[in-house]
Amino acid sequence: MANEKQFKLKTLFVAARGVQEYRATIPTFVKPDDVILELGCEWGTTTEILAQHSGEVIGTDISPECIQRAQQLRPHLHFEVLDAFDVRAALGFGKPFNKVYMDLSGFSGYRALLDVIALTNMYATIFSLQVIVVKSGALKHFASHCTAWRE
Ligand SMILES: C[S@@+](CC[C@H](N)C(=O)[O-])C[C@H]1O[C@@H](n2cnc3c(N)ncnc32)[C@H](O)[C@@H]1O
Repeated sequence: MANEKQFKLKTLFVAARGVQEYRATIPTFVKPDDVILELGCEWGTTTEILAQHSGEVIGTDISPECIQRAQQLRPHLHFEVLDAFDVRAALGFGKPFNKVYMDLSGFSGYRALLDVIALTNMYATIFSLQVIVVKSGALKHFASHCTAWRE
């Protein structure tokens, strides 16, 4: 049962619709000292932009073919194969990630909303993140219809 003693996250969750919005968040939320974990990097296009704004970024994807292509196109960047749902493997990188960028196929549909919330909460808790930016139209729609009640 919920009570006031439970751990409360301080992570800011940012929901973007579409890749243009997703990338447009970078100058606002990414700072030169940040260590970024990117989940779902495909060929590393967003990784390249994240690298220009942060101290360090690891671009990850479940697809070995995507990671091979990303590494060929951008040999100066760090890429790893990772299933985003395997948070223990992400811990294994041994990096003090403070922000996460997340763009996984299928995460924009309304049925994926519970998966998006579960996954973002898991990363926020395990890495004590400051910000998670998620490309998810469903989360953006949901968030825009939520408000925190204050008396
Ligand atoms: C829309 S693409 C990402 C595009 C990329 N963010 C960009 O800006 O160019 C979605 C990627 O999510 C990856 N993906 C899907 N499920 C995943 C999972 N469980 N873990 C990690 N990556 C996943 C896919 O392989 C695909 O490359």
